[in-house]
Amino acid sequence: MQKYSVVTFGCQMNSHDSERISDLLEDTGYEATDDVEEADLVVLNTCSVREKAVQKLRSEVGRMAVLKRRRPNMVLAVAGCVAQQEGEKLLRSMRSVDLIFGPDNIPELPALLSQLEQGGPALVRTEFDLEEPSFLMARPRDGRGPTAFVTTMKGCDERCSYCIVPTTRGPERYRGSSEVLEEIRRLVDSGVKEVTLLGQTVDSYIDPESRLAPAPHAGEERARHARGKLSREDETEFPALLYAIASEVPELKRLRYTSPHPRHLTPSLIVAHRELPVLVRHVHMPVQSGSDRVLKRMLRRYSIAEYLERTGQLKEAVPGLTLSTDIIVGFPGETREDFEKTLDVMRAASFTGVYGFKYSERPFTPALKMDNDVSEEEKSERLTELFDLADDIRNAHLASLVGTDQRLLVEGFSRGGGYTGRTERNEIVHFGCSDDPVGQLVDVKIERAFKHSLAAVLLDNIRARPLGGQDQATSKRSLNVVS
Ligand code: 5AD
Ligand code: SF4
Repeated sequence: MQKYSVVTFGCQMNSHDSERISDLLEDTGYEATDDVEEADLVVLNTCSVREKAVQKLRSEVGRMAVLKRRRPNMVLAVAGCVAQQEGEKLLRSMRSVDLIFGPDNIPELPALLSQLEQGGPALVRTEFDLEEPSFLMARPRDGRGPTAFVTTMKGCDERCSYCIVPTTRGPERYRGSSEVLEEIRRLVDSGVKEVTLLGQTVDSYIDPESRLAPAPHAGEERARHARGKLSREDETEFPALLYAIASEVPELKRLRYTSPHPRHLTPSLIVAHRELPVLVRHVHMPVQSGSDRVLKRMLRRYSIAEYLERTGQLKEAVPGLTLSTDIIVGFPGETREDFEKTLDVMRAASFTGVYGFKYSERPFTPALKMDNDVSEEEKSERLTELFDLADDIRNAHLASLVGTDQRLLVEGFSRGGGYTGRTERNEIVHFGCSDDPVGQLVDVKIERAFKHSLAAVLLDNIRARPLGGQDQATSKRSLNVVS
């Protein structure tokens, strides 16, 4: 049997695409291997959202070229955003590459491989499926654990001035709500307890099938805000989709989504959070900067006052809800004063998780025309300062949980022995158990806070064990992720 290996760079969207690539290859008769040395087909699933994407790819292709010299029949494919962005150009400088395909061309992979088998030249497919967007169904699989991602939309119509995603992933296309619901139903029937809805701007959802009942209160909220700042295009059918999932798949235990755009955090989405217990008490809401001046130049379309007002209403509606965020430091023109406003917003929103990035110039983006005037050194210093503050906020939050009872979804084994689960707010908790609780919801008492996680004891005395000393196991098929 032919063997394949997928190496994934970047975001959750890419990890999800890698799983779809794996499904297709397995249907075609390939067998997975984590060892690229023995793979007949290697797929590099690339990311271009931040710097040095092409250089990173070049060094990875160089590594594969050495293997190819030893095994000339090995097929080397490049997928993902760098493939989409660079297309044919890559073939000129990376001669060992046999196949280049963009995110929308994944379904064509088996056909492309059989074309290559017949001895054709290197192939490039980077067309967007604009007319009939396809969304490959995530397949329930053994050993994947109790959590799963479900794509609800792809592409992005925002034009954040720093971001390459609208170029590499194309315009927004939404998946029919019946397909979304069917996929969730199948996953839940196969044992999945928690689903994360996935999309570049996941909360801009509009049902192409027009079959969703309006979210309760959506009309009233729209009327109430008709004269306010909220525009019609901010109101989406995302809350309606959440209600449909909650009512049509009531066995689902937890529902998350990522990544939303703050301008769609509308009153009806806030009401959905208040009314739907399946929605977890945690939202990842990218803020990007704390300075209105910088946000304007980023074309983010909200002010910090609006961001804090909406997330504040969300926290009021759902007591104990926590937020995480993405922040870019050193955007062109960002002064020390602007950066301090970012630190202020971190304190004001008490983000319990911060993904911080140094601004990097991306091809085809409007910000390329701006003067990239914050020095690398200054960017690094700001990023360190940002992470120091993020650590302080997170440590205080984790410490405040010691002594509380929490419900965990057990996801797997803990490195130091025992098991690891997540609270609905995404805190990582380690605990001991006499039997295998993976996939179950269990109640624990938090005993200690570490830097990034917590230690707990099961409330069920009969199953409770001290941490450590349990057998380790590895998942049957793990994806090779390089970030
Ligand atoms: N430079 C730095 N960070 C970026 N991101 C997107 N584009 C850039 C860029 N050019 C960050 C944003 C986004 C996250 C996925 O990556 O914070 O939310
Ligand atoms: Fe990029 Fe902005 Fe779209 Fe997010 S919303 S993918 S940052 S353009």
